[in-house]
Amino acid sequence: MIRFEHVTKRYADGTTAVDDLSFEVAEGELVTLVGPSGCGKTTTMKMVNRLIEPTEGGIFLDGDDISTIDPVQLRRRIGYVIQQVGLFPHKTVLENTATVPHLLGWKRGKGRERAAELLDLVGLDPSVYGDRYPEQLSGGQRQRVGVARALAADPPVLLMDEPFGAVDPVVRERLQNEFLKLQAQVRKTVLFVTHDIEEAVRLGDRIAVYGQGRIEQFDSPATVLGAPATPYVADFVGADRGLKRLSVTPIEESDLDQPPVVHLDDPLATATERLRAEGARWAVVLDGRDNLHGWIPADATTTATAKGTVREHARRMEAWLPLGAPLKQAFATMLQHDAGWIAVIDKESEGRFLGVLTPARLHEALRRSIDADAQDVPRAEVAVETVATA
Ligand SMILES: Nc1ncnc2c1ncn2[C@@H]1O[C@H](COP(=O)(O)OP(=O)(O)OP(=O)(O)O)[C@@H](O)[C@H]1O
Ligand SMILES: [Mg+2]
Repeated sequence: MIRFEHVTKRYADGTTAVDDLSFEVAEGELVTLVGPSGCGKTTTMKMVNRLIEPTEGGIFLDGDDISTIDPVQLRRRIGYVIQQVGLFPHKTVLENTATVPHLLGWKRGKGRERAAELLDLVGLDPSVYGDRYPEQLSGGQRQRVGVARALAADPPVLLMDEPFGAVDPVVRERLQNEFLKLQAQVRKTVLFVTHDIEEAVRLGDRIAVYGQGRIEQFDSPATVLGAPATPYVADFVGADRGLKRLSVTPIEESDLDQPPVVHLDDPLATATERLRAEGARWAVVLDGRDNLHGWIPADATTTATAKGTVREHARRMEAWLPLGAPLKQAFATMLQHDAGWIAVIDKESEGRFLGVLTPARLHEALRRSIDADAQDVPRAEVAVETVATA
């Protein structure tokens, strides 16, 4: 969708801002460009909508060489959220949002209608905020208007230059989450610039890590964190990259343990008898459709007095997650419930129980996912020795 081919940009004073850059952003993909200040991120962005012309190389949009497209026409296909938001201070929120439709010559009413729709989409009630001026908004609200404005003409491509840079970390995280939800709906092709590796990892389908004017690594967030291509990248992503990686590594079926399982209507006596015979201290309790109900300790009652069914003694299980949830969430859930294991269910089949994840298996999952990325094979095919299996 967007393709850079050997693009170099040298400014008049001899600064090489971008050096022989080649990469591609697929349709509907969100690529984050991350790197330190002055490494050429904004320059890269501005070449896509021809605010800056490359010195060498070519940029292609949907296969068309953009140097052959009239810049005004080109910019209709590209929404742009500029660094520092850049709202017009003397225009209201609604007018700011309708800027591009206005430039495109839409009828005033239609432009305002579209603007109101978009403000709603980014979580700003147009009847409350529409007539305000930018100075009457919080930083986070201004950034939302910046995003709404870029989406106004419904362009297939979005360029976002540190769109959430000017707010505190809490607001930033909220804006990021909202933007992820929005992107799931609108599926734009997005080039997103940030100098914050956390943001890059959280938002990007893939990440381009910039050094000075060059891409040092272009990979999925998990791979960048698990297998940094160069010492520079390793340094940039930080010493806590293992921890960061937890948040981008999903729970897979091959990570799960299979503990003993009993059913709600099993007679208690036989259930506890069996658990003792197997030396198990607890079992997962399932309902008639094999959905997770809870758990039962092996010593729920002594065999001699065991009466009735598992149902009367089963405890509800609060610590569970769907398959595919990030390992970080699994870890957080264990801590929150002070649980030595969590149950994992299948979201698709309305909660069928799949197995349990323990701390040892979580550690193993992380180790295997790193090896799997390095060897480019599915995680299930990687065996590692861990404390648990050694
Ligand atoms: N018009 C210009 N003339 C000369 N040099 C420039 C010009 N614009 C940018 N540069 C230089 O090009 C390099 C890349 O700048 P760019 O704005 O692309 O960086 P950036 O990665 O966006 O940085 P930041 O994170 O601070 O926004 C910098 O060294 C900068 O000083
Ligand atoms: Mg910049």
